[in-house]
Amino acid sequence: MSRALRAFGRSVAAGMQADVQTNEVGRSAPLSAAMNYLTVAAGLPLRLLEVGAAAGLNLWMDRYFVQAGAAGWGPADSPVRLTGHFTSGQPPATAMTVVDRRGCDLNPLHPTGSRLLLESFIWPEHVGRLRLLRAAVSVAAPVLVERSSAGTWIRQQLATLHAGVTTVVFHSIVWPYLSGDERTALDDAVRAAGARADQDHRLGWVSLEPDRSGVCLTCERWPENERLVLATSSPHGTNVVWQPAPARLEASADRADMPHDHGSGRAGLVARGRNERDTSDRGPCAGGFWYNRKLLTSVFVPEIGRRLLATG
Ligand SMILES: C[S@@+](CC[C@H](N)C(=O)[O-])C[C@H]1O[C@@H](n2cnc3c(N)ncnc32)[C@H](O)[C@@H]1O
Repeated sequence: MSRALRAFGRSVAAGMQADVQTNEVGRSAPLSAAMNYLTVAAGLPLRLLEVGAAAGLNLWMDRYFVQAGAAGWGPADSPVRLTGHFTSGQPPATAMTVVDRRGCDLNPLHPTGSRLLLESFIWPEHVGRLRLLRAAVSVAAPVLVERSSAGTWIRQQLATLHAGVTTVVFHSIVWPYLSGDERTALDDAVRAAGARADQDHRLGWVSLEPDRSGVCLTCERWPENERLVLATSSPHGTNVVWQPAPARLEASADRADMPHDHGSGRAGLVARGRNERDTSDRGPCAGGFWYNRKLLTSVFVPEIGRRLLATG
């Protein structure tokens, strides 16, 4: 170990400074069910805009096969098989058509060029998640993930709502990383575009984000001005409970109320330890150990990296 650190100390130290950017393919299970909901509701193809896209793997959700109860959607021969993610309820099963897809991230990753980095964010015993990531990288092509912060980028993208499509803004496990100002900018940009939407220039907003009790899949759409809670799930998109009759998204559940970490992803991972826990696929880890590992990787490891860099 000491020999390895002497030989590769600088690159190890530099790598330890990276923020966690898990690009979780399992989230495509609930996300694609929400896209199905929008497809069935409007009968239009989708233009996907993802905020905090990382390597953009979830922008390829239409290339993944998803099974929910008796129904399935997506290519039956896809190497990405999201089965067993839904525990109850029956989301609409349909074939979505994606006419355009793009995203933004503060630090965009390349799906193949950054594959090892992406794999490093998966706990070693989460073999199923690793398989899904590798399968997704094999079918995903690089998409345009621009280096930009959420609010600015969404305002630019929504300057025009395209005719004959539903433009869908979506994000998963990004909200806790956004500062209050960033959240407000995003919210304002989407609602301003919603006010311009009509039957032929539609807008949807799909969010898979922590709320005070877990992770919530919400969907808003315009021009209907409909606000719904579609499902709950684990942070990695498993244990999805689809609402039998989607409930109205209450004002008290506004995204602006959700816990956040004032802009620091790393600090946030520690602060919101409860919300980040995923009891469905953490394998043999007990809760305390799991939490401590988050603490280890999100605080102590970068600190070791800083000291390594300082000592040369
Ligand atoms: C936990 S990862 C989730 C990635 C992806 N949404 C998923 O579900 O797999 C959070 C991502 O949000 C990005 N991010 C954090 N703050 C951001 C901001 N202000 N604007 C855009 N992206 C941001 C991070 O760089 C990171 O890639």
